[in-house]
This record gives sequence, structure tokens and C-alpha cells, in this order.
Amino acid sequence: MRIFVTGATGYIGRVVTERAIAQGHDVYGLSRREDGDAMLRALGATPVRGELTSLDVLRQESAQADAVLHLAYIHDWAMDYEKILRVDADAVDALGDPLRGTGKALVTTSGSGLAAADPDGGETSEDAPPSQTAVLKDRIRSERHALSLSDDRVRVSVIRLPPYVYGRGGSYFLPLLMQKAAENGESIYADDGSLRTSDVHVDDAAELFLLAAQKAKAGEVFNGTGSTSLTLKAMAEAIGAVLQVPVRSVSREEAETKWGEFLTAFVQDPNRAANRKAVEQLGWQPKGVDMLTDIKSGSYQAMVAKLRQVSKVE
Ligand SMILES: NC(=O)c1ccc[n+]([C@@H]2O[C@H](COP(=O)([O-])OP(=O)(O)OC[C@H]3O[C@@H](n4cnc5c(N)ncnc54)[C@H](OP(=O)(O)O)[C@@H]3O)[C@@H](O)[C@H]2O)c1
Repeated sequence: MRIFVTGATGYIGRVVTERAIAQGHDVYGLSRREDGDAMLRALGATPVRGELTSLDVLRQESAQADAVLHLAYIHDWAMDYEKILRVDADAVDALGDPLRGTGKALVTTSGSGLAAADPDGGETSEDAPPSQTAVLKDRIRSERHALSLSDDRVRVSVIRLPPYVYGRGGSYFLPLLMQKAAENGESIYADDGSLRTSDVHVDDAAELFLLAAQKAKAGEVFNGTGSTSLTLKAMAEAIGAVLQVPVRSVSREEAETKWGEFLTAFVQDPNRAANRKAVEQLGWQPKGVDMLTDIKSGSYQAMVAKLRQVSKVE
């Protein structure tokens, strides 16, 4: 297939690109800068210069593609969220337009945290009601907008990624928590740390996008979680162990003073979105190393070595 990937230069998009090429596909990746172009070329992809607001570029590339994977998203927390939603909706419309009635896939990205947690601590499915507490709960509007394209005969589907996509030494919130622990000289968790969250290895996440491009039906949502059992205490302990800093339970208020309100609200939102549907309907088989092992002895070693220096200096 010829696959057009937005967000191809990002943490997950890069792995999607690499794996798609390894599977024999031709990847055209949206890129905003020369360094992005160079990185995509090095992966064997063709860079396409543009922004999410370059609607003509998005339309042209989508028209030539056999599948479109939309992973780009504006992660500027200071920006007006209404504007972010509008940019995304317009981009999705431009990507979807040439795909109408073709049966070609448009796979978009969302978050498993958009589903309300089960009040009894169990797992949730894609049918769970929307969360009223998630920090970025309004992203559900991006998801709904994308799904509405299925009424217009676009084979659109949504992958809901968990709060922690990890692996290859990267991502956002896990490295941020490691950095905070190094700076504070201790790894903390709020209350008793029994709250559970979801995670997925980045290679497994990438594979799911490619499976959805091939097999997902129009209007379907899939939780892209590898595990739903990780406790925040276990994560804090793994971070403390590798950084060689003490691990401590704190109140939520103290967590806010160390992490800030945004990160605390993000971390403290329970999430156990089960992947059963993706496994059964798409044949997805997540097999990446688990996150705690990856922190302790896997891909985060270089980051850990740097952060240990920070914690010594502090
Ligand atoms: N990582 C996670 O743990 C996680 C969890 C849940 C959901 N997600 C979602 O998964 C998707 C991919 O995330 P990621 O972790 O790979 O994020 P990332 O590393 O921040 O990458 C974001 C990508 O979007 C591109 N982008 C941002 N603004 C753009 C704009 N205005 N025009 C064109 N491209 C733009 C970036 O381009 P540049 O390289 O030029 O900046 C980059 O390619 C996103 O939708 C994200 O919200 C991620």
C-alpha cells in the first residue's frame, strides 16, 4: 500500500513509518521541517512538506494514498483547546474527503483516558461512557468528529492509545515522571498508589495502526492498550530503583506541589481500557516487553544514566 502518515516525525509515527516500510509499504509522511524530512528519508519514507493546516496538501496526499494514518496532534497545552480541536477537525475533513466511497482506510488517534473508569476498578470497553474527569476530556470531540465521517462513507476508525505509550527510550509522560523524580531526589506516588493505569509498547501501538488500516470497519473504535494492570506505586518503585532515589507515598496535594496540577491530574486519572476488541477483531497481539522491565533494564538506560547525574547534582 501507499500509506500517508501525519505525525510521521513524532514518537509513535516514526515507529509506524519504520514498521510499515519493513512490511513492504510505501510511506509518505507529513513533515514540517528539514530535520523531519531528513529523518523520514533515513527511514526510507518520502517526506511531504506541510502542516495540519495545509489542507490542500492533506487532500492531495490522501487522494493518492491507499490508506491514511492520522497521528499528528497539537500538544501545545498553552494553546486555546478550541483552536486545537478546530485544526484537527479541518485536517480530518481534508484527509477524509478523497476517501469517500473508496473503502480506503482513515485511521485516527485518540486516548483511552477519554472513557470513564469503572467505579469498581474493573476494565472498561470502548462502549464505556465518556470521562468527566480526564484532563484532556474534550478530545472526545476530535474523536466524534472523525467518526462522523463514516456517515459520509469514509472507512474511518479510531485507535485510543493509553496514557503511557513507552519503549525505545521515549514518549512523554513517563520520561517526565522520571525527570521529576531525578530533580526532586525522590520518586513519589499519591495516596496508597493502588490506582491502576494502562500502557502499551510503542511497537505494538504502531502495529495496531497498520492492522486497523487493513481490517477495521467504518466507525469502529479500538482501545490500543497492552496492559491494564500497572499500579502507580509499582511505576514509582521502578523509577526510584533505576534512579537510585527513595520512593515515598504523598498526599495528592503534595503531589501537586512536586508535579504541578496538570501532571498530577493526568497521573491520578484511573484508566483500565481493555484491548479485547482489537485482539479479537483485528488479530492484534501486543508482545512488547512490559513497561516496568523496560524502565528497569530496557530502553530507558541512556535516559536513566543522564538523570542519575541530575539527581546527584540536585
Ligand atoms: N505518546 C503517548 O503516550 C500518547 C498517548 C495517548 C495518545 N497519544 C496520541 O498519539 C499521537 C502521536 O503521539 P506522539 O507521542 O507520537 O506525539 P509527538 O511525538 O508529540 O508527535 C506529534 C506529531 O504531530 C506533529 N504535529 C504537531 N503539530 C503539528 C502541526 N500543526 N502540523 C503538522 N504536524 C504537527 C509533530 O510534528 P513535528 O515532529 O514537526 O513536531 C509530530 O510528528 C497523538 O495524536 C497523541 O496525542 C500519544
